[in-house]
Amino acid sequence: MTSRIAVLASGRGSNLEALLDYLAPRASNAMVTLVASDRPDSGALALAQARDIETSSLEMGARYEASLSDLLENHAVDLIVLAGYLKLVPSSVIHSFRGRMLNVHPALLPAFGGEGMYGARIHRAVLASGARVSGATVHFVDEIYDHGAIIAQWPVPVYGDDTETTLATRVLRAEHALLPRVVDRVASGRIKLGVDNRVSGVMDIVAPRDAFAPVSGEDLDVAIEAALALADS
Ligand code: GRF
Repeated sequence: MTSRIAVLASGRGSNLEALLDYLAPRASNAMVTLVASDRPDSGALALAQARDIETSSLEMGARYEASLSDLLENHAVDLIVLAGYLKLVPSSVIHSFRGRMLNVHPALLPAFGGEGMYGARIHRAVLASGARVSGATVHFVDEIYDHGAIIAQWPVPVYGDDTETTLATRVLRAEHALLPRVVDRVASGRIKLGVDNRVSGVMDIVAPRDAFAPVSGEDLDVAIEAALALADS
């Protein structure tokens, strides 16, 4: 049976694009059937429309919770992916989708997460801390911002001459590699959240070893490609 995925996104939608590009050619058992956003002008909605995926604009007023619940029910959504969604998901939805809602975060949680940690602020905080490694985290969503059980992480190096922009670009590449593969595995039931709040299932996406070495951008690309080839084989 095909798993029906709803993606909630506030921004340009590059993670949505990576997910669609990953799932489409694979005859995967998962497909994105709904894209919703709190921002009517978001790139994510435009991308979904261009790919003939149903879209919805979310209003943040008093009916937010009820209309989001109705929307998910009407679309028979199995799995929710938060791909750069900046609004809080109502707790009733989090409760109904326990173990069926994922978030991608552009840092290595549990560091550099929590309320107010989004966008450039995250990378600024990483640079200010002097951390030598950052990366992408995909985790199950619970009631607390960036707190749910971690499924997978992919590290990337932080270089001495990094700016918020160069670091964000490098981390985003790791997000694009990691998120679709985790979504696919959760959708197919290979990765699960247990009642003990532990994640079970083999996570066979191996971070490139060279991600820790001070290599050039191209070398990191090569390492990512090699690791993905291994994970997808
Ligand atoms: C990504 O870095 C995501 O992790 C963060 O916001 C950014 C969204 O980018 N939460 P995009 O809209 O997927 O291009």
